Amino acid sequence: MSTQLAAVRGMNDVLAGQMPAWQHLEQVTRTLFAEYGFQEMRVPIVEHTQLFKRAIGEFTDIVEKEMYTFSMSADESLTLRPEATAGIARAAITNGLLRGARLKLWTSGPMFRHERPQKGRYRQFHQIDIEALGFPGPDVDAEIIAMTARMWRRLGITRVKLKLNSLGTTESRRVYREKLVAYFQQHADVLDEDSRRRLGGNPLRILDSKNPAMQAVISGAPLLTEHLDPESREHFEGLTAMLAASNIDYVLDPRLVRGLDYYSRTVFEWVTDALGAQDAVCSGGRYDGLITQLGGEATPAVGFAMGVERIVELMQQTGATFAAPSPQVYVVIAGSRAGRAALALVERLRDELPGIAFETNAGGGNFKAQFRRADRSGAPLALVLGDDELERGVAQLKPMRQEGVQIEVPLAELAGRIPALLKSLQG
Ligand code: HAM
Repeated sequence: MSTQLAAVRGMNDVLAGQMPAWQHLEQVTRTLFAEYGFQEMRVPIVEHTQLFKRAIGEFTDIVEKEMYTFSMSADESLTLRPEATAGIARAAITNGLLRGARLKLWTSGPMFRHERPQKGRYRQFHQIDIEALGFPGPDVDAEIIAMTARMWRRLGITRVKLKLNSLGTTESRRVYREKLVAYFQQHADVLDEDSRRRLGGNPLRILDSKNPAMQAVISGAPLLTEHLDPESREHFEGLTAMLAASNIDYVLDPRLVRGLDYYSRTVFEWVTDALGAQDAVCSGGRYDGLITQLGGEATPAVGFAMGVERIVELMQQTGATFAAPSPQVYVVIAGSRAGRAALALVERLRDELPGIAFETNAGGGNFKAQFRRADRSGAPLALVLGDDELERGVAQLKPMRQEGVQIEVPLAELAGRIPALLKSLQG
């Protein structure tokens, strides 16, 4: 066995250099969600396996083959969350948050699915997730979609389009499902093995198949949109009218069925042509029956989740660059007494100048090496503290980039001089 450590396949490190883009996305969404009245909450990464089976559905790919399930004792099966909706619905029930309340919540964090890894598809990936609980009408569906449209604008992302469909109610879907099964049974000879298996459990997913040999049969299949119940039709028309009135473009996709079973009525997906096969960047829909199905009081709900890795990739493709902020003052130290005094001095400056970022040279090095580091750090200003300056109670302030003159400043006056100097250098 190799002694070399390796990362787990499909699970990625997010290195420091990538974090500024992640943080930008996090900050844009955090601000946006607050502007629309959503509050952050967090749920555990691990839940009882049964929760995901009941919420996502026994015959979905996620539950059938992608869950990281383990047990710590004979009677406890636990699963790493493959998504956040089930956990939030569970938390709303177990914390007694519902009782007719309206909740607008968001969360974010890692999700786990044992899929075949490829570009844009990972086994640990990150979602930012929104859930609105207690809202029956299409107004909130339209509002969260409008919010995502605004998010793309703020992120400078243009290569996305919105696909929209309605799955009707559980009842109208049951009727449709029977029609669909009858249709596919007539064409069973064309179905691949996967689809034949789905015929019994989840025939709607056959519509999602990418198998070229089945496309003709799929395009002849009855459409769910033709079998919607009147209320679902009205709900959907309400949604599309509000989107049109807000100038939000969408494409009706009667074959959009989604890979989780809890949906009813609205489903949507923002897709892109810029990422290859893994084209969904933000997807969700309404799940009016889920909370009752999990044992809570009837609560209509709608939400979506977006794939952080995929959106960060899109942000980078816009040509935008993201960098960690540089320190503002790099502290260069000459001499051993200065080295011992530096920490206390810089800590005092940090007390006096909150918000200004100081990086003190650590790990020694001669003057030249320290200035090289100061230069690389991107700091506009160096503070030079040497043994003999210390003796005289002064330090040097040296502009790093512009042609500025080095000035000698009494230690007690540093806090008064640094802000103005930085402003003149950065302004
Ligand atoms: P989902 O479509 O399974 O929905 O995932 C949402 C988003 O997560 C996808 O559009 C995609 O961007 C990202 N994603 C999914 N799987 C992977 C993966 N293996 N690697 C990278 N990114 C991935 C849900 O999870 C629902 N809980 C959304 C929802 C919330 N519906 C209602 N509320």
